[in-house]
Amino acid sequence: MPVKRKPESQMMSYGYKPELSEGSIKCPIFQTSTFVFKTAEEGKAFFEVAYGLREKNAGEETGLIYSRINNPDIEILENRLTLWDEAEACAVFESGMSAITTVLLEFLKPGDLLLFSNPIYGGSDHFINKILTKFNIQIASFKVGQTIDEIIQVVEATGMADKLAMIYIETPANPTNDLIDIEGSKKVAKHFSNTGKEVYLAVDNTYMGPVWQHPLKNGADLVLYSATKYIGGHSDVIAGACLGSNELIKRVKTLRTFLGNMASPNTAWLLMRSLETLKLRMDKHAENAAKVAAFLNTHPKIEKVYYPGNIKETDAEKYAIKKRQCLTDGGMISFDIKGKEKEAFAFLNHLQLIKLAVSLGSTESLAQHPATMTHADVDPESKKEFSITEKMIRLSVGVENADDIIYDIEQALENC
Ligand SMILES: Cc1ncc(COP(=O)(O)O)c(C=O)c1O
Repeated sequence: MPVKRKPESQMMSYGYKPELSEGSIKCPIFQTSTFVFKTAEEGKAFFEVAYGLREKNAGEETGLIYSRINNPDIEILENRLTLWDEAEACAVFESGMSAITTVLLEFLKPGDLLLFSNPIYGGSDHFINKILTKFNIQIASFKVGQTIDEIIQVVEATGMADKLAMIYIETPANPTNDLIDIEGSKKVAKHFSNTGKEVYLAVDNTYMGPVWQHPLKNGADLVLYSATKYIGGHSDVIAGACLGSNELIKRVKTLRTFLGNMASPNTAWLLMRSLETLKLRMDKHAENAAKVAAFLNTHPKIEKVYYPGNIKETDAEKYAIKKRQCLTDGGMISFDIKGKEKEAFAFLNHLQLIKLAVSLGSTESLAQHPATMTHADVDPESKKEFSITEKMIRLSVGVENADDIIYDIEQALENC
């Protein structure tokens, strides 16, 4: 019986055949725009399959055509990514935003209703509120803590329940680390689905990454990543990914082909390099974050710490959600400093080891000020409602020695 290896054991070789690349142990960068067909008949056959003009014959592989449609680096990367989420298929993109926007554009059309959780990453918030609405796509949102019945009410109150086409959630939410119930969201999607229409659930899983949370297992139809974050992990690449069933990813890839926002061979190669250490890095991120959170929890200059590890068993509802969907407490921590923007900026300006930069999930620790940086564009009322205040700092805990990270935070706090 074949051994079922863990994903981390397969990240070095899965899907790659050295004999097709001069025996090279690593998959080379296939830096090519197009591929030579052996015959015109072969080219015709490849296009028929790629453009869905006919189903594949038994044993037929999708042929390589043109790097906007497919490329060995992109395909091998996609195959490797499916292992973590146990997904049927994956599509990779040149950014997380292109993965998110392609999914929203594919599954929504003018007149449809999109329901989404709040808060979400500022870029996704902008696209939903300011761009989708220009195409007459209606939007409604719910917030953390609302029950399934209350969320159903939110949809009913729009008067457009029959037009609900997609539910989009981000959990844990950026930057507040709020957990949104994936299974509960699926129940809402099912409530509004009928024989003629399926309401899809898409989950942005960037914050936990593919090692610590598997939304497809909790009922999601599509899982999305900014692969710039933990998957890439080294602050040197912008990329995105979407995973789900063969049927849905085929739709996503078709739109990707015509939007032309696929990942480049070089990006795919960098991500394959990164995947080899994903599990190791993520274990260290989580271990360090637990130590940093413990330090922040008792510091007199810190007012509040937003970290899944702080959810108490007595907070039964939230604790149950965490148990159902998160395998660790993650590597992201937000916290409120006692004071206002002045104190928050003083803290950021005095960091020495931790870098003052947006993004997250990198080997180096990163800190930023969501209210004026990643979430600057979110409307002021919403920011207030979701506690994205001027005293909030978001920290992405890196893989440095935890004592050094804590020392850096301690000395910066002394200066504010
Ligand atoms: C949760 C989340 N989703 C999506 C994105 C967008 O990804 P990208 O910057 O790779 O386009 C980000 C970026 O910060 C993010 O934090």
